[in-house]
Amino acid sequence: MTTQSTVARILREGFDDFREFVNPLVALRAQLAAEPSAVHHVDAGRLVTDEGRVIEDFHGTQAFGHRHPAIARALLEFLESDSPSWFPSRVNPYAGSLARRLCERTRATGEPAPPYSNVYFSNSGSEAVEAALKLARAVSRRPRVLSLEGAYHGCTMGSCGLMAKGVFRDPFEPHVPGLGALPFGDLDALAGALRGGDVAAIVVEPIQLEGGVHPLPANYVAALCELTREHRALLVADEIQTGLGRTGRFLASETWPRRPDVVLLGKHLGGGLLPISAMLTRRELWERAYGQNFETAEAHNCTFSGSAPVCVAAHAALDLLTGELIARVRELGASFRRGLTEALAGLPLFDEVRGDGLAVGIALEGTDHPWLSFEHFGMSDLSGHPSVGLLLCHRLYKRGYFCFVCGHDWSVLRLQPRFTIEPERLAEFTSVVREELSELCALT
Ligand SMILES: Cc1ncc(COP(=O)(O)O)c(C=O)c1O
Repeated sequence: MTTQSTVARILREGFDDFREFVNPLVALRAQLAAEPSAVHHVDAGRLVTDEGRVIEDFHGTQAFGHRHPAIARALLEFLESDSPSWFPSRVNPYAGSLARRLCERTRATGEPAPPYSNVYFSNSGSEAVEAALKLARAVSRRPRVLSLEGAYHGCTMGSCGLMAKGVFRDPFEPHVPGLGALPFGDLDALAGALRGGDVAAIVVEPIQLEGGVHPLPANYVAALCELTREHRALLVADEIQTGLGRTGRFLASETWPRRPDVVLLGKHLGGGLLPISAMLTRRELWERAYGQNFETAEAHNCTFSGSAPVCVAAHAALDLLTGELIARVRELGASFRRGLTEALAGLPLFDEVRGDGLAVGIALEGTDHPWLSFEHFGMSDLSGHPSVGLLLCHRLYKRGYFCFVCGHDWSVLRLQPRFTIEPERLAEFTSVVREELSELCALT
């Protein structure tokens, strides 16, 4: 029987078991960097370590704070009901009602109808990217799917072929044929690639967050919208990070000159408690890919697509994600970024603050000072990477904040706080970053 004591035992023993049986190097890195990893409980959306330290998480998956009580309550209610959680016919009312609701929510003010009318659910962001790759191929019967240099799209075999060069992509070659990347923001390269008539889709992030918090330039977005339509290639917006309110809009792409043909969602769609991702498209595109006959209707599927408990968590998350909360993200994000820029201006290791809403990056300058090098800390295998971002993270852990650098660019600190964070806490964080970065500057 699973009881409180099972949970208590797991929290007592599971951290060491992780080191032993899952990933020893991640456990060692967390220890060396003094990351707050032995986290034992949650208090008002924040994490509390075994020593009683309270940690504010800026990682981004927990947009409503950790373990939001309304989401936990919805799940408990479901578990206490006698509803099936899986439907062998695959006619699943939980997926149905969530899909309807998601499509309705994508309708921006003034639009006559929702831009999306069909949803496919899966479990991770990478699987949503896979679904888009397959939809694009099946719709167009064309071979090429292109992303942008610097992209982060996931770690499954198809999605990692769309990633930036480096550790997430290179060791897994050869990649799925036809996948490739265009130079970021290069209009001529975009036009040239589409002229060939063999591109099924272009996949982009409205802001490359793991790539260093780089918003797509407006003139590039305009060209993407125009040229993909002209050459009948699908435009796919990977909004796994930027969607669901993160930029202060329900979708970051809702202000683009035309709605992307496909939008991908993930991360806090399951309220941060359960894993769920979604591919939203138009019914007409789904029909061209899969809707011609019974045989192809489930040609792309996964066993637990939209299972009942994850959809319940997602419904509860959408309840929390009100228009007021999204407007709050927009306003709070703008003042947070302004405050950071003012506080850090003039520090020699500070470059700039970038982002939109509560998707924020602090770009840092490099230094070749030996005291701030990875060699100095006995980690010479990391010597090719910029060090200041991780050193700052290490200091911020000690001050009660969990932050991390961008996956593809360690010179940028990626900050994605919860949407409910208090303005005073952001102000406090801003002065702590200033203090810690000033101390690092003093060492150089
Ligand atoms: C933009 C983007 N796409 C896709 C993914 C992959 O999502 P997952 O890690 O859930 O597979 C991520 C993960 O961070 C992401 O940031």
